[in-house]
Amino acid sequence: MQLLDGKLAAQAIKEDLKKKTSALQEQGKRSPHLAAILVGTDGASETYVASKVKTCAEIGFESTLKRFPSTISEEELLREIEELNNNADVDGILVQLPVPKHISDDKVINAIDPSKDVDGFHPVSVGNMVSGTPTFIPATPYGILLLLEHFKVETKGKHAVVIGRSHIVGTPMSILLSRKAYPGNCTVTICHSATTNLKEICLQGDIIVAALGQAEFLTADMVKEGAVIVDVGITRVADASKKSGFALKGDVKFDEVAPKSSAITPVPGGVGPMTIAGLLMNTYNAYMKKQ
Ligand code: GUN
Repeated sequence: MQLLDGKLAAQAIKEDLKKKTSALQEQGKRSPHLAAILVGTDGASETYVASKVKTCAEIGFESTLKRFPSTISEEELLREIEELNNNADVDGILVQLPVPKHISDDKVINAIDPSKDVDGFHPVSVGNMVSGTPTFIPATPYGILLLLEHFKVETKGKHAVVIGRSHIVGTPMSILLSRKAYPGNCTVTICHSATTNLKEICLQGDIIVAALGQAEFLTADMVKEGAVIVDVGITRVADASKKSGFALKGDVKFDEVAPKSSAITPVPGGVGPMTIAGLLMNTYNAYMKKQ
């Protein structure tokens, strides 16, 4: 069994981006610049955004974190996005989701200039991805592709089973794995809450991407011998023995699935670091398109 170590793969990508950023600075150019918007004080969102900002600093990217109380009006938030759209020194914009209920996700996503849409959620980015001319691929599926590439996982002709149909992970992942490209060229089945024979389908999967957000959902009896397992889940489960008071659990019951698999991502340290690597790659690409 091979551990698909996301920390290791992300480190290689970060080192490459750091070198490229140093080279830009030596030419007297500014660094790529990511602006992140965080609304409210959700613990998980705080952690994700802090990690994105910290990683920018590590590789020499500029970053701006704009924080707003959960009482900010939709109108005001849209104005803030417009300001970042018009700021020529900002290459990438992300609004950490979820936003409070009185604010429309769609309006927020649609407000971002597609040339700065490093999350890849804007309909223009989605359309470009579906029509085979991707501009920005959502960071998590992009990170998973980079991970499969880093570890040279064979994907051509394989049956990939994607569990979960979210716009952030499952849906783009299924499109990308079916593309005529590497990593890709898979036969893809996308499963969701209305799938009636999930176990049977999973047992056919050469590659399983578990992205449903239910802790330890995928068990050994659902996985065929030698499958490649990609675990996107990160659910916080109460754990008094941890300083933080919680443990992070993936969507895969790692201890029993790992021995059956040929390769598997750990949680934490698998897809998580790769999501950030995908975001940084998108930010670098947004910057380069303007040069
Ligand atoms: N919330 C959960 N995942 C993501 C993500 O990839 N980007 C943003 N902006 N918010 C998220």
